[in-house]
Amino acid sequence: MSTFGRIASAVKCFTSVAVRRAGLHTSQSAAVPKRLWELGRLNHVAIAVPDIDKATAMYRDVLGAEVSEKHAQPEHGVYTVFVKLENTKIELLYPLGEKSPIQNFLDKNKSGGMHHICLEVDNIHEAMKDLKAHNIRTLGDKPKVGAHGLPVIFLHPKDCNGTLVELEEVPHADHE
Ligand code: CO
Repeated sequence: MSTFGRIASAVKCFTSVAVRRAGLHTSQSAAVPKRLWELGRLNHVAIAVPDIDKATAMYRDVLGAEVSEKHAQPEHGVYTVFVKLENTKIELLYPLGEKSPIQNFLDKNKSGGMHHICLEVDNIHEAMKDLKAHNIRTLGDKPKVGAHGLPVIFLHPKDCNGTLVELEEVPHADHE
């Protein structure tokens, strides 16, 4: 075989392997999508409350739950209290400041109500890419630092069955 022939057949061989690999990859990813991120636990359910001290007292004194201190989260416009449950947490939310996102909600729901759920993911940026590809809008382009000092992003309730969904990045090791 001439040098040219050897090169040509090597190229042909390489190309067919590459095509086969690409084909295999495509059919595999159609059947079992290769994920770069995974969904974790329900981190918390958040409830907006008209009186956070009264709500905290109810969970602590009547239901006997362990509750956190009240924390001001000025960058989110809320005060938070976390109620610790065996399998998850409840986040009590109360408005902080003029432009609190909770105020509007409380104006419409005078006695308070469920505000959002928070799901854990192990890679928030990869999760956001996939959600964008599925036309699920996020509120803002970049994750913010959430109540636990970890990156969070909110998903548009209109794209999530009428429920405001918060994603929080929790490193995988923390799940175990
Ligand atoms: Co939350």
